[in-house]
Amino acid sequence: MKTFKKVLALALATVMSAAVLTGCGQGSDGRTIIRIGHNQSTNHPTHIALVAFEEFIESKLGDKYDVEVFPSELLGSQNEMVQLTQTGAINFCVASNSLLETFSTNYTLFNLPYLFASAEAYHASMDDESITGPIFESTKDAGFEAVTWLDAGTRNFYTVSTPIETPADLKGLKIRVQQSPTNVQMMSLLGGSATPMGFGDVYTALQSKIIDGAENNELALTDNGHGDVCKYYSYDMHQMIPDILIGNIAFLDGLSEEERAIFEEGFQLVNQVQRTEWTDAVAAAKDRAANEQGVQFLYPDTKPFQEACAPMHEDMLAQYPDLTPIYDAIQVYNEQYPSAES
Ligand code: GCU
Repeated sequence: MKTFKKVLALALATVMSAAVLTGCGQGSDGRTIIRIGHNQSTNHPTHIALVAFEEFIESKLGDKYDVEVFPSELLGSQNEMVQLTQTGAINFCVASNSLLETFSTNYTLFNLPYLFASAEAYHASMDDESITGPIFESTKDAGFEAVTWLDAGTRNFYTVSTPIETPADLKGLKIRVQQSPTNVQMMSLLGGSATPMGFGDVYTALQSKIIDGAENNELALTDNGHGDVCKYYSYDMHQMIPDILIGNIAFLDGLSEEERAIFEEGFQLVNQVQRTEWTDAVAAAKDRAANEQGVQFLYPDTKPFQEACAPMHEDMLAQYPDLTPIYDAIQVYNEQYPSAES
């Protein structure tokens, strides 16, 4: 399967570089092909939302555009897809906010552990353009901008054989984290050993015991099979990291005003469909993980985890003082929608 994916990715990369070299994203029917890549399965809320986008754009502008959605890392890892979007080899991709901090330090903010007090505070913040605007636009010079955000739930630790009840339980464990400096720092403050790698490599790393565990939302257990190997999932609730739909700037700027308005409507649709699907998908994943994969869900006291990570907030604000007003605006939502535990 892996080899098949690699061969397919290589074939696609060849086709795409040919398209870029000849300066054309044109299909044989003369329509412009819009390529969107992501790293989730076709069951995932993100894929379902992007297919709704494809249908919407083609219903409005189908004589001109042919939208194609490529799931499951078919166009490469998330990091590779961001670079393809930057250069315009593809038009859009979904990237975790984690990875984007290496393209613009503004994205560091949403990667902070325990930034949002509750899911409600997280959603309200991400829906507030005065919060997301300065971050979403910060990569324009790098060739892309964020067009909407997607829910990726809450990230929690899960391990092959060690129940995580306190940060001390992480000691000596190799835990996969996303490839971002913030995540590596978080892991070291919590006492585990950070092993950064791409999402597509995690299952094999768990199975071959290169790592002892990972951290993610519940869908990773079922959709990516991690729950076949990891039997303890511990709700320490360390991060709510959004996924971000990013688009190539030259492509977006090349749209007419009318087209851009239709695309904006499409981006909103992606957000809405994905969030609606998300809630049911998490409930179904939890049920399947517990009943079919034998995963045990644990509910530790989150305070010790939170305290271990607390210095990261001050550190970040000291390093990037321009982010202070946005951080403060998030605190207003945190007060309005406090954690159920407080
Ligand atoms: C989640 C998230 C992905 C990300 C993945 C990861 O699944 O939705 O965008 O790639 O976590 O841990 O890498």
